[in-house]
Amino acid sequence: MSLERIFTPIKMGNMYLENRIKFPSIATDYVTDGEVNPQITAFYRERAKGGVGLAGICLCPTRLDQGPWLSIYDDRFIPGVKEIVKIFHDNGTKVYAQLIPGYSWAFPGRPVEFVSPSGISITGRVDPPYRLGGPRRGTATSRHILDESEIAQITEAFGDAARRAREAGFDALEFGTGGQYFIGQFLSPLINKRTDNYGGSLENRMRFCLEIIDSAKKNAGADWTYIIRWGRQFREDGVTVEDLKSTAIMLERAGIAAIDVIAGWHEDPVPMIQSSVPQGKWIYLADEVKQAVNVPVGTGTNIQDVEVAEKALREGKADYVYMARALVADPELPRKAKEGRLKDIRPCINCGRCYESAVVDEVGLSCTVNPQVGREWEYVVEPVPEPKKVFIIGGGPAGLEAARIASLRGHEVTLYDEKRRVGGATLLAGVIDQRIEKFNKYLQRQVKKWPLKEIRLGGKVTRNLLAETGPDVVVVASGGIPPVLDVPGIDGSNVLSGSDIQKLLGGGAIGRGGVGQRLLWRLASLLVRYWYNFGFVRWFLRFPFPFKKRVIIIGGGFAGCEMGEFLLGKGKQITIIEEGSKLGIDIGPVTRWVMMGRLREGNARLETGVQLEAITERGIKVRKNGASLFLEGDTVLLAKGLVANSGQMKNMIGNIANTRFIGDCSEPGKIMEAMKSGFLLGFEV
Ligand SMILES: Cc1cc2nc3c(=O)[nH]c(=O)nc-3n(C[C@H](O)[C@H](O)[C@H](O)COP(=O)(O)O)c2cc1C
Ligand code: SF4
Repeated sequence: MSLERIFTPIKMGNMYLENRIKFPSIATDYVTDGEVNPQITAFYRERAKGGVGLAGICLCPTRLDQGPWLSIYDDRFIPGVKEIVKIFHDNGTKVYAQLIPGYSWAFPGRPVEFVSPSGISITGRVDPPYRLGGPRRGTATSRHILDESEIAQITEAFGDAARRAREAGFDALEFGTGGQYFIGQFLSPLINKRTDNYGGSLENRMRFCLEIIDSAKKNAGADWTYIIRWGRQFREDGVTVEDLKSTAIMLERAGIAAIDVIAGWHEDPVPMIQSSVPQGKWIYLADEVKQAVNVPVGTGTNIQDVEVAEKALREGKADYVYMARALVADPELPRKAKEGRLKDIRPCINCGRCYESAVVDEVGLSCTVNPQVGREWEYVVEPVPEPKKVFIIGGGPAGLEAARIASLRGHEVTLYDEKRRVGGATLLAGVIDQRIEKFNKYLQRQVKKWPLKEIRLGGKVTRNLLAETGPDVVVVASGGIPPVLDVPGIDGSNVLSGSDIQKLLGGGAIGRGGVGQRLLWRLASLLVRYWYNFGFVRWFLRFPFPFKKRVIIIGGGFAGCEMGEFLLGKGKQITIIEEGSKLGIDIGPVTRWVMMGRLREGNARLETGVQLEAITERGIKVRKNGASLFLEGDTVLLAKGLVANSGQMKNMIGNIANTRFIGDCSEPGKIMEAMKSGFLLGFEV
């Protein structure tokens, strides 16, 4: 598909944009006390170089308690943000400031408070889903109801902040007022129960937002470009699509030059950004708004692939696209797309870990597939003065990332994997999740482009081999192993582990079961060895091999729940048992509620606080609350996670000086942790 439309320049207010890809402003949590620092500067430098048409920087117009955004509530912040503006302008990229206060405000002489139109929240809880610089979880006893004089103070503060942003040199100002945050909440009849000028009719509910726009224009000048993010609410009696359209008309009249149509609110009970949500699902919202206004309308939220965006623009459903996570994952996406190098774009896998790191855990924005995110200022690939011979055992995410960085730095890298294809855990995860399939394929292609000395697949690493090659450094990234489960029946022909399947997908054979079953395994391994296709495996799993109809999954962590959700979709009946008191304890909050909801909807039997006692051909014996239970099932899948494998690997390779263990082999985790350990090792050797 040619990408003509997305690379056609567009006028937005007084700005001319080179292309129609916008990197929306996001919370990074890299800042302390709202000040610019080398970490955030380096993060934006990478994004400025990547070729986006427009990029955004969040600025907070009020003081917060360690918020995730830069501040602009005082003139002293102007010089810092000027630096960031300059970085974008030096790279020929337009940049806007987004004014965003989140859920909170700090009035003079008062602590930071959660504020709201009527003191109520959609969930009924005082704490919003993300604190975003507001009171620490559990410390606020209410959401303060803003009175009219406080509303006026906030409006004035927005005006001052807008003036500062203009002084800093931004090309435009965006109001981060739509959606869930407190100003957007005024629009929602569900939680705006006011009877004054700011409640009741749609006009009244829009008043606060329109006054803010007016104040910004008065302070920063009506000749500047003002844009906004605006969204609906997926709740009965909430902000409807019709409201969205009527208010968009009001915004256009107020001088708004472009509208980003966002999906919904964090509190909405609808998955919006998880991998189970089809790409482009929310384009229809922009299409609706576009029919109501004449200013450019942007679509986005769960658009990862440029082709999906191009199609929406060509069909006239939107004028531009905003892509946040796709550009976190690969800041060079626009440049690569323009050069026709779509296959070189590192795909975002929709895992949600970026949200979790930046706004839930408040540890700074990180990305699973791009470990450089947040580390751009410390880790820069430069040639090493003395290249070393580096031998990497294991071509999973950790080994590959170590190989990439070490080879780019000039080391002589040999990558070895006993499987016949690289990707490690992504080989299985890619069957379950098509975004990970995309990532695996990306890795398979890229590994051939990195300056590795050699890639050896499908053979065993022996002590002799290591002695012959004489590496300076051996990096062991061979993955973890399943924990030993000492229960009767564990070696039964109906028992499978995640590692068995991974081995099979890597082209290896599984020596289990009777003659017939072994033959089937053999055939399957030959098939995947010479003709491996994620889609085919996905399709094939609806048949009763290797999973029969009733599957019992031992282990209710991420691996078990994800597999359970996937197999439900293949028509299997699922039982998941977990020793602990909670399922999915290692699943982040962005994903967990969606996964649990789908398991429940699929009538999966979910048992917690259960000890496995034995496996039989008809199911499993367990103990729960002191009583014995028998759970029927045909196939038992062991998914109790992995344990480190460094001990076994040490025995295998012998006592070689300068051996390093990374990834699951040293400390089992998810793809993000594996990639990070490979990245750091690549810089360390
Ligand atoms: C870590 C993170 C922080 C975000 N912070 C903000 C924010 O401060 N303001 C905002 O308007 N949107 C914020 N967003 C939302 C994005 O701008 C975007 O609308 C959303 O991620 C959906 O787009 P995507 O699927 O392309 O990522 C954030 C997104 C991420 C991933
Ligand atoms: S952390 Fe996950 S969801 Fe976020 S940008 Fe990276 S790959 Fe995408």
